[in-house]
Amino acid sequence: MIEIKELVKKFGDQTVLNSINLTVSDKEKLMILGQNGAGKTTLMRCILGEYKPDAGSIVINGYQTIEERVKSLEKISFVPQLPPPLRQTVRELINYSSSLTGFDKGSIANFCQKMDLDIEPHYKKPFFKLSGGMKQKVLISIALARDSNVLIFDEPTANLDLKGRERFYDLINEYCMDKILMFISHRVEDLAGLANRKIELDIGKIVSDEKI
Ligand SMILES: Nc1ncnc2c1ncn2[C@@H]1O[C@H](COP(=O)(O)OP(=O)(O)OP(=O)(O)O)[C@@H](O)[C@H]1O
Ligand SMILES: [Mg+2]
Repeated sequence: MIEIKELVKKFGDQTVLNSINLTVSDKEKLMILGQNGAGKTTLMRCILGEYKPDAGSIVINGYQTIEERVKSLEKISFVPQLPPPLRQTVRELINYSSSLTGFDKGSIANFCQKMDLDIEPHYKKPFFKLSGGMKQKVLISIALARDSNVLIFDEPTANLDLKGRERFYDLINEYCMDKILMFISHRVEDLAGLANRKIELDIGKIVSDEKI
């Protein structure tokens, strides 16, 4: 469960999130819409404890995102909008992620394979040298392999080819129906039939919240 109360986030004198209240129950599947600059990514970074709110609170699975950050992150997977430019090799990234969270390393390669990516020949490459779509597939695979109950995807399919997108949604349907899912996406049509709640942000406020 995610409970966001009166969340305010400012950058300088710009108020990017303005008194956000949002409760997400177990197994809900959200799509979060809003124009460029509406504050969607900032909201996700607050949920992940990467940004400290100026006011308000966020509690995930019973833990505060700032005061109990490690605990609050234990069961969250996140795929960012822009993959980080990591210099680690793909093998090191997979080993590191697995050591943090205890998942079986082989499952990463399996999930990549299911999205039509044979990742093993690329293990020695620095992560930042993968193609955009390959990076996204590796990060999605790590997110799926972890034992999370909340998965947050910020434009996860932006770099995926058509087949990759279809396979991604197949994997979500196969492995994630018992979890909270939050998709930030401009591809509303892709999420039809998957999301059961639609939230729209506009200049830092929730302007609509409907069950679909
Ligand atoms: N670290 C930061 N420092 C300063 N301003 C920031 C920072 N992060 C975001 N902002 C500002 O906050 C506003 C919202 O940005 P955000 O990335 O949350 O938008 P978004 O809804 O995700 O947009 P998009 O659809 O383009 O991804 C923008 O005006 C942006 O410039
Ligand atoms: Mg964004």
